[in-house]
Amino acid sequence: MQLILMGAPGAGKGTQAAELVKKFGIPQISTGDMFRAAVKEGTELGKKAAECMKSGALVPDEVTIGIVKERLSKEDCAKGFILDGFPRTVEQADALEKILSELGKSLTQVLNIHVPEEDLVERAVGRRICKNCGSTYHVKFNPSKIENICDNCGGELYQRADDNAETMKNRLSVYEKSTRPLIEYYKKAGKYTEIDGRQPIDKVTEDLVKVLSSV
Ligand code: AP5
Ligand code: MG
Repeated sequence: MQLILMGAPGAGKGTQAAELVKKFGIPQISTGDMFRAAVKEGTELGKKAAECMKSGALVPDEVTIGIVKERLSKEDCAKGFILDGFPRTVEQADALEKILSELGKSLTQVLNIHVPEEDLVERAVGRRICKNCGSTYHVKFNPSKIENICDNCGGELYQRADDNAETMKNRLSVYEKSTRPLIEYYKKAGKYTEIDGRQPIDKVTEDLVKVLSSV
């Protein structure tokens, strides 16, 4: 199953990808997570990505396409994968088609988690992530049992550097300009489904699983 999880910043892609990984046993490929790991390690890729991420701009297509191509050819993607945060431009979507055809695969479904813009800033600003295992929480919508401590592993929670109101404004405008056109792109391809992302987390998962059991 080759899936794309689409959605504006803070829509719930990472939260839902984690659930789908558990249910379907295929890996989550998050370009944002890959860039954050590279920034932490201080690699060349990390240096290139850091500036863009700080302002909420996109990392250049050629860099992003290169890392996705490499990642999708790994053994653990043989039975499928969940793309989270890629593609984000028409150029990336065209490149993905080419990568998939070289691998002898095709897209199964594009799932767009739709959340109105007015909810997205609150979601991002209230997000907390475990430093140790990466579990995602929200101070209001999905709080950890003990403040700033991960329920799963006891790790410390942190806030992403780009999860502030100012950077979020830019991330949302980049989404409108560069990523929203992909909705039409995938509608035309006939494999597009929209899910109501304003529902509680488990209900969104239920809707996603329902769609996936019928494809
Ligand atoms: P990336 O890490 O992909 O960030 P994003 O797209 O802005 O999306 P987020 O991770 O912020 O949100 P999400 O949809 O995963 O939401 P989550 O589940 O965490 O990208 C970061 C940066 O990297 C980009 O700005 C860019 O610079 C670069 N980059 C990445 N990919 C790139 C690409 N392809 N090309 C170029 N550059 C790229 O949920 C958010 C919060 O809401 C959480 O607190 C969660 O608990 C809560 N929540 C989730 N679901 C619900 C619900 N149903 N109800 C209430 N609260 C909920
Ligand atoms: Mg995410």
